[in-house]
Amino acid sequence: MSTNDNNSNAYSDFHLQFIGGEWQKGKDDSINTNTNPYNGDTLVEIQQATKDQLNEAYDAASQAQAEWAKTTPAERAAIMYKVVSILDQRQDEIVDWLIKESGSTRIKAMVEFGATRAITLEAATFPNRVHGEIRSSNTPGKENFIYREPIGVVAVISPWNFPLHLTQRSIAPALALGNAVVLKPASDTPVTGGLLLAKVFEEAGLPKGLLNVVVGSGSEIGDAIVEHKAPSLVSFTGSTSVGKHIGELANGGEYIKQVALELGGNSPFVVLKDADIEQAVKAAAFGKFLHQGQICIAINRVIVEDEIYDDFVERFLAHVKTLNVGDPSKQDTAVGPIINEKQVKSLKEKIAKAQEEGAKMILSGEIEGQVVPPHIFTEVTREMDLSCNEVFGPLVGIIRAKDEDDALSIANDSMYGLSSAVFTADMQKGLRFARGIRAGMTHINDISVNDESNTPFGGEKNSGIGRFNGEWVLEEFTRTHWISMQNEPRQYPF
Ligand code: TAP
Repeated sequence: MSTNDNNSNAYSDFHLQFIGGEWQKGKDDSINTNTNPYNGDTLVEIQQATKDQLNEAYDAASQAQAEWAKTTPAERAAIMYKVVSILDQRQDEIVDWLIKESGSTRIKAMVEFGATRAITLEAATFPNRVHGEIRSSNTPGKENFIYREPIGVVAVISPWNFPLHLTQRSIAPALALGNAVVLKPASDTPVTGGLLLAKVFEEAGLPKGLLNVVVGSGSEIGDAIVEHKAPSLVSFTGSTSVGKHIGELANGGEYIKQVALELGGNSPFVVLKDADIEQAVKAAAFGKFLHQGQICIAINRVIVEDEIYDDFVERFLAHVKTLNVGDPSKQDTAVGPIINEKQVKSLKEKIAKAQEEGAKMILSGEIEGQVVPPHIFTEVTREMDLSCNEVFGPLVGIIRAKDEDDALSIANDSMYGLSSAVFTADMQKGLRFARGIRAGMTHINDISVNDESNTPFGGEKNSGIGRFNGEWVLEEFTRTHWISMQNEPRQYPF
């Protein structure tokens, strides 16, 4: 429970970089002006980091990691448990930052806080879940041991939409498994995506140098983060275009390294004719408009079987009209602001394009500042921009499917394969349909927006490589080392 209501010991100094366990001023000439996306207030101005400071961060991480890898599982688990306790004490302060920095509604901020807490608790179990193996050998007198070791230094680059959770989802497992981290948060969310977590880990007693937060723009220091010799793994969450670039750099530069890429999505939400329409309507609204649709696993395409299409549309429209739009700090706001003006502009272009392409706009509204109200389009086809591309905003297209087979064909007609959902009263049919979808995740009778710390989260196709959470991230953030022991002299042919 939160005990930090009066904010008397609230964290400060968010204008500094966190390198080698010290809070220091950025040395670049450029400044990151961090603003509240709802009212434009300046929250903090951060002098950005130079490449020399990035190198310093990598040096500190490399040095600290060698000692950290020798610590006991209990010591590393204890830090994670301490982090959970600090998160709990500072819940109000953290939720407040999520609202003012990332434009999170209160509902979304609480969802994000809960997910962040859950992955930290899960990470606390990781030190004791690293198992080695002994394998038999076909060579007389040989024993094979398979060790699982920390991977070393991990570079983490995170996005602005669920900044706290999507950063913690990489850094907590990385640290728990004996690695060190150099983190670059998104420029729109340097606090909730990095500096705030650095404060929490510092307060929890994490040794200096293990977590470094370098605030700088992706276009300035992004390549240097990836190309540096130190990281053995680059854990990137963000757009497919930047992810592809990072993949190329990580495998085409001087030093080859592993990459974990969590990229864009285009989640289908399929409503079959036997579904509970009322429940599907509520799910569609929440799975589409949570955080204004700025979620990689948000519903991007609503696909409804012909027989119930008109009924679904009518009820969905009525429900979405009841959503409160505006100030994200208000308890009952469902749709808050868009993260930045660039994203608002891209949404305006999408609205215009949808109409040009012949979609019927049945709900719209005035765009005020960065607040874009829900827009609903019907008679959308699979070829239209709204269907082919990730929207990342509160616009939704509803596609008519002839039958179940057609719905599946439309659902799979995408270069993305992250999350998906299907509504039906028949669970066997739902399971069959779900297994037919080429995606990393499918939810039957629920929204596509699900993330549990003990289940594999990730996608295929242009949605990325690798999985988060549970034992899947445990594999991702460790390296496998085969060591054989020849117990008696081996006979060589020459
Ligand atoms: P991006 O523009 O890709 O930014 C993500 C991160 O990459 C930011 O920290 C950004 O820094 C950095 N970056 C930009 N250019 C870079 C470069 N050349 N080298 C290294 N880093 C660079 O994405 P976004 O706009 O923050 O997020 C929206 C997109 O991310 C959507 O497509 C969404 O689907 C995807 N996303 C995916 C997931 C998962 S789990 N699959 C989760 C959230 C978001 P700056 O901010 O400084 O530019």
